[in-house]
Order: sequence, then structure tokens, then C-alpha cells
Amino acid sequence: MIYLDYNATTPIDPGVYAAMLPFMEKEYGNPSSMCTLGRTAAHALMEARSQVAALIGARSCEVLFTSGATESIATAFHSALSSNPSKRHIVTSTTEHSATRNLCHEYETLGYEITELSVDSSGMLSLDALEEAISPSTALLSLIWANNETGVIFPIETIIEITQRKKVTLHLDAVQAIGKIPIDLSKLPIDYLSLSGHKIYAPKGIGALYVHRHTLFRPLFPGSQENGRRGGTENVASCIALGKAAELAHQMLLHEMKRECALRDRLEKTLLEKIEGVSLNGVKKNRLSNTSNLCFHGIQAVEALLLLDLEGLCCSAGSACNTKSKTPSHVLSAMGLTHDEVSSSLRFSVGRFSTEEEIDHALNIIPRVVQKLRELAP
Ligand SMILES: Cc1ncc(COP(=O)(O)O)c(C=O)c1O
Repeated sequence: MIYLDYNATTPIDPGVYAAMLPFMEKEYGNPSSMCTLGRTAAHALMEARSQVAALIGARSCEVLFTSGATESIATAFHSALSSNPSKRHIVTSTTEHSATRNLCHEYETLGYEITELSVDSSGMLSLDALEEAISPSTALLSLIWANNETGVIFPIETIIEITQRKKVTLHLDAVQAIGKIPIDLSKLPIDYLSLSGHKIYAPKGIGALYVHRHTLFRPLFPGSQENGRRGGTENVASCIALGKAAELAHQMLLHEMKRECALRDRLEKTLLEKIEGVSLNGVKKNRLSNTSNLCFHGIQAVEALLLLDLEGLCCSAGSACNTKSKTPSHVLSAMGLTHDEVSSSLRFSVGRFSTEEEIDHALNIIPRVVQKLRELAP
């Protein structure tokens, strides 16, 4: 199989698997227990926390483990909004992941005013509009750092300057940015940052939330675990996996960015040259080095996905999380693509185990499938 869907999820790295395995077998202690088994688990958890912190330039005390980014985002919202109950306004963008969008819809039903900032045709946010949208009643600004569908990276440094000036709480959904671009929170004053294990070669169902040490925090699940910031026994094996995954991502980051960029660029450039009627969705620069979102005019992406799958190639049309709802990509629609263009777009995302040979095969398969669909088109 040629796997070009790393933004949907990543396989578990063998090093990560090896690190978590003992905690699913012999080391089954509860980290809150006083016994030796418990202390071993607690110690391993402490190390995993510092590995995650190191990847993002944070302190260990600023990292809490969650069940994934959806929970991290919900926790950040709950904490920010309940710490500041008199403020009832949330600012976000039209290109957020469904985890944030769903939450905003929920808060809207609770009476919060939501401002969704629009993006231009390249997927970029207007910073003037952002500045204007923030008012004294704004409780939270929540933005995606790097887009899961297009890879477009928002200008976070400038966004931080604005939030500092306007004194507004900032949460960043960094799920796709983590392990793909260098992040140093010791130099970036933000309040909350969400990340997920299954985008950085750890299992699904584990994530973390960064909370700045000076940010007032109110837990979503009250309890004694995670230093009183998240109740419930920790998913120890998966926390250990996330720690190891963070360590590996940290070590490989610069090398992988370069290697994956070369693979992605070759795939993208050749498809744009080789096939007529193909266009790039999103900016060319300021984009994740592993992601390419292309519109193949005159085809239906869902049909292409089926044919590509039959040929052993796995990619996606938009976000995997929206596939079940069968709604066209809100991200591409927000960028002004027509309904036809949105439904003709495919996302390719390479990763740690992608090879030159896979790109060769993909470059053989994709043009054939596109040609076949165009011939069959009414
Ligand atoms: C940008 C972004 N945010 C949030 C999520 C949700 O993460 P999780 O699956 O860990 O809940 C995803 C996962 O697809 C994502 O890509």
C-alpha cells in the first residue's frame, strides 16, 4: 500500500511501540498508587511529560495528558470561558478543524457570540480583520496553527503580538503543526495549545494540552490526577507512547521536514505538469512541508478515492473527520472554491515512512486514475 494520508493519522513508530509495550504487560501499576508498580508508572509518566514539554519548548508542569486533541481543545475552551464568565465572545476562523467548530456551535447554543474570521483564496487570515474582531468582551481567540487539509500555516508570531496588545486569551490547535515545524513556546507567550498523539506516530486516543504556568486553569474533569488538572486514571501506556513519539519527533524534525518536503514537492510538481487541469489549493509558501491539496478539475474526488484505493493508494478528500458526514470541505469552501472545485480536490500527505519508490508508484497511478475518470465523466 502507498500511504499518502499522514494528516489523517500516522502508523505507530516501532520505537514508540517498544516503549509502551512494557506498560501494557508487566508494568501495569496505577501511577496514583504508593506501591513499587505505581511508583514505576508515575516515574515513567513524569519522563513522558518532560519529553512532550521538550518538543514544544514548555516546562513539564505546563503539560497535561488528555484522551486526544478533541478533549484538549474542549478543556482549553472550558477553562478559558469559565475563568472569565462575564466575557461571552469567542473569535475563531472559518478553516478550523471540526473539533473546534463543533465546540463553537455548542457554545453558541449556550448564548456565546462566535466570530468566524474568513480567509482569502490562499487560505490566509486577514490580520486586520482579526484585530478588529477582538473586543473587550472577547473571552477567547482559538485558531488552528497549520491547516489539516491544505497545510496552510497561520502567522502565529503576529497573531500573538495582537493578542498580547489586546490582552485576549489565546488557544492554538497545533495538532498538524507539532512534529512538522519547530515550536518553541518559551519564546511564544500563548495560553493554551492542543496536540494529538496519532499525528506524531503514537496511538490514537492520547493527546496533551499545554497550559501556560501563569494562565488560570479550571479543569473539565475535576480530580486529583494530572496535578489536579484532569480527573481519571491516566492512560499510562499511551502517555509513555506520546512521550517517546515526542522525543523521536524532536530528534528527526529538521531532517524529516527537508526529506518530506522533497517528496511532496516532486509529487506535486509532477502532477501539476503531467496532468492538465490541476491546480493547487492554498499557498505555496507558509505551508506544511508534507501536505499537498490539489484540485483535479472534471473528476469527483470520492470516485477517485475508490479507484486509487483499488490500486493500493490511500489519500483523502478533505478531513477524515468529515468523511462520514459527507459534507464538502468547509476549508476549501471558505477559501472561495466552487462546489465543483471542492468536490474535485484531493489531499496527499507524506510522512516518516514515505519513500521515493512510493512517490514513483503514486505518479504512475494518479494520472491514470484521473484520465479514466475524465473519460467516464458525462
Ligand atoms: C487540526 C486538528 N485538530 C484536531 C484534531 C482532533 O484530534 P484527535 O483525533 O486527537 O481528537 C485533528 C485530527 O484529525 C486535527 O487534524
